[in-house]
Amino acid sequence: MQIPFLDLKLQYLSIQKEIIQEFNDVLSNTSYICGKKVKNFEEMFAKSHNVKYCVGTSSGTDSLHLAYWALGIGISSQIDKGYLKKEMEEVIVPVNTYIATSETISMVGAKPVFVDHQEDTFNIDPNAIEEKITPMTRAIVVVHLYGQPADLDPILKIANKYGLFVIEDCSQSHIAEYKGKRVGTFGNVGTFSFYPGKNLGAYGEAGAVITNDENLFQKMLRYRQHGVVEKYNHDIEGHNYRMEELQGAVLGVKIKYLNEWTEGRRRVASKYKELLANISEVKVPEEMTYAKHVYHLFEIRVSNRDKLASHLRARGVETGLHYPKPLHLQNAYKYRGYSEGNFPVAERVSKEILSLPIYSEMTDEQICYVVENIKEFFSSNSYSK
Ligand SMILES: Cc1ncc(COP(=O)(O)O)c(C=O)c1O
Repeated sequence: MQIPFLDLKLQYLSIQKEIIQEFNDVLSNTSYICGKKVKNFEEMFAKSHNVKYCVGTSSGTDSLHLAYWALGIGISSQIDKGYLKKEMEEVIVPVNTYIATSETISMVGAKPVFVDHQEDTFNIDPNAIEEKITPMTRAIVVVHLYGQPADLDPILKIANKYGLFVIEDCSQSHIAEYKGKRVGTFGNVGTFSFYPGKNLGAYGEAGAVITNDENLFQKMLRYRQHGVVEKYNHDIEGHNYRMEELQGAVLGVKIKYLNEWTEGRRRVASKYKELLANISEVKVPEEMTYAKHVYHLFEIRVSNRDKLASHLRARGVETGLHYPKPLHLQNAYKYRGYSEGNFPVAERVSKEILSLPIYSEMTDEQICYVVENIKEFFSSNSYSK
């Protein structure tokens, strides 16, 4: 049996008619960027989060950049204000995330300051944040990784104590909940990626930011489109972070099914957990009591990860690695002088995690096949350290 890591075709076939209809609309309306479909999606997305504002963007990376910029973090905002501080402003960010979360901090001329994660949630460790705060710290970025919300209450408390902004990177956690409320709505701003493989995915690049802060919303709206107030009248310098109309159309269709697809992922996750429970060598992801996990990824932990991955590959099961190397050990951050041992949890976990295939349409037969092959691995000779 062949089991891809992700199968986007099945989902597409289930909504094909609606998508083609929407595409025909866009093509005949000839409004290709930030038109009615984008506006409609922005309204639906804001409403579904019970927040006032949403700005559709060109990607999750651009959403993060837009949010940091509009919050006035880093050098660019100081240039806007006509002065330049000698020291760099700092932003606290988890060390195990996709590099988009941290590279955009550097892009606004601030310094990403890494923090280790909790062993059981893979999310930023609230107890490790305070020691990293300096007079230059401006914000904390919370990434709700793999679909599980981070423990927000203690983080918000720290942010409040030191007067810091909180940015929630929800790229992997659409409609996940913390204590019954959707993520992205706790901090100053929530940022989202709609990269095709995400739980809510476009058919190309797209993203969004959400907020209840009108001033921040107005700034993000301006920065999204070259700082315009009206055509060819530029209040400030900005950039081009506009969402394409075809992506707005796709997202407007897909958002209606997001609840159902999320329940599908949760079904797959609980079947995996049930079947993997008897394999003592495998640690399955835990859903925290405060969280509704949306299982963007299903991360297991095993001590012989690479061998298990090749065993599964040989039997037609594709797996993923999220992520094989924590950010502080990437060449991109070599200049910061980090070394092995600085973030022990992230370093240990990155050698043990393996992402199993997960998507809402996965059948019980497919899940059983994956688990049977994991079982076979641990009961055979291939399992030797
Ligand atoms: C946690 C996180 N942040 C940001 C991004 C960047 O999103 P995009 O690929 O849409 O730019 C991703 C995408 O993989 C992500 O997983």
